[in-house]
Amino acid sequence: MADFEPKIVGFLCNWCSYAGADLAGVSRFQYPTNVRVVRVMCSARVDPSIIMEMFLQGADGVFVGGCHIGDCHYITGNHYTEKRMKLVRKLLEKVGMSRQRFRLEWVSASEGVRFAGIMKDFAELIKEIGPNPVVGDSPDMAKMEKLFIAKNVLEDFRLRALVNKQVEFLEKGNVYGKKLDEEELDKILYDALTVEFDRAVILWKTRREPLSVKAISEATNIPPDRVLDEIANLRRRDLIKLDRIEGQSPLYISQGFEV
Ligand code: FES
Repeated sequence: MADFEPKIVGFLCNWCSYAGADLAGVSRFQYPTNVRVVRVMCSARVDPSIIMEMFLQGADGVFVGGCHIGDCHYITGNHYTEKRMKLVRKLLEKVGMSRQRFRLEWVSASEGVRFAGIMKDFAELIKEIGPNPVVGDSPDMAKMEKLFIAKNVLEDFRLRALVNKQVEFLEKGNVYGKKLDEEELDKILYDALTVEFDRAVILWKTRREPLSVKAISEATNIPPDRVLDEIANLRRRDLIKLDRIEGQSPLYISQGFEV
């Protein structure tokens, strides 16, 4: 698609990346004009759910720029950013969109040339990947649905609490002061993310018509035994309820997915 000009939204932290972009501007280092810059006080101010919202609104690529690790103006802000943005990449995979549509980089105030180079690279990469599949004349509705669900998952307070706890564990260790392994923590985080995503998909699919476990499994590709487990969990939280029994099959309807 030769004439495709990607729309890129760039969230830049005030103290480093924005200053780097500014330096690129005043030094006349050229970078693509398709980057729409949003200045934030710290990269940690960028809520992961807003990135999904940007894709829903039609961005072809989203960039977050912060200070190098150790240089954050608020000391540990970018540690939280790093952890949270891992969730964004993982969810983009679940949505079926390239994780490369999202990019996180640390750029200091003195790295104007580097900032311009990163932006050129990113714009080229998005051109190669192509337009956002959920916008345009024939949007991919299945992906749009999953993107919407992903946004809701990222707003979930339990997931947020887990991310925040993990940063604490990495920095200070657990209650016994033992520092935990990053890989192990990532696995815990990704497992929790998968569970929350599957639960949200089940709630979404049953939001309008009651469905049996088999029908939910077929509609979501989640194995029936897992659907059953998740329904039990969601029922305990009053997010789904038994609507009726048809033949031998109980049908469930969601009461917890707000649109
Ligand atoms: Fe730049 Fe926190 S102030 S990342």
